[in-house]
Amino acid sequence: MRWAYPAAALTCAAALGIGVFGFWPDRGEPERPLIPNASVTDLLAHADAERGARLFRSCAACHPIGKGAPDRNGPNLYGILGAPVADARTRFGYTYALRSVGGRWDAERMDAWLHNPDQFAPGTRMFFQGISSAWDRADLIAYLGTQGSGLLPGSAAGKIE
Ligand code: HEC
Repeated sequence: MRWAYPAAALTCAAALGIGVFGFWPDRGEPERPLIPNASVTDLLAHADAERGARLFRSCAACHPIGKGAPDRNGPNLYGILGAPVADARTRFGYTYALRSVGGRWDAERMDAWLHNPDQFAPGTRMFFQGISSAWDRADLIAYLGTQGSGLLPGSAAGKIE
């Protein structure tokens, strides 16, 4: 058939476009507004906590998040936003690297930490490569905000109990 080749070529080109430019939304990826130079606060206003809950599966191997659940390889993250950095779980053996950061977890700090843990706290024992997508980080932070941390301003937090 004559049209078979062009059709196959087109399909290939489309697949390449998706692969190279990544402009084709993932299955289940919500539509996102285009926000140039967006800060994490800007993104949080449109973040999707339910998607964040799914993304949290990559954290759950090390982190429990249920209220009162015991720490594992990583500390329990219930109520982590607003909690002091490396001080929320008194029985967990945090590294000096993370303890010396000081202050509390807010959205900006959490964003920087999840982007590149080792850059945020050089020498940390959280062996996690980091999350390059700012939307993924925002969705995760919105989800953390629903887990005992109260509402984050403007976020979609609160959808999940
Ligand atoms: C391979 C195990 C592992 C994975 C995967 C992991 N973490 Fe961690 N996480 C740790 C460890 C260990 C620490 C303690 C680090 C330290 O003391 O330096 C930690 C610390 C943290 C802290 C600081 C907690 C506090 O009490 O201050 C946060 C927040 C955190 N992780 C979030 C996440 C999130 C969100 C993910 C998923 C995107 C994730 N982690 C993935 C092991 C992990």
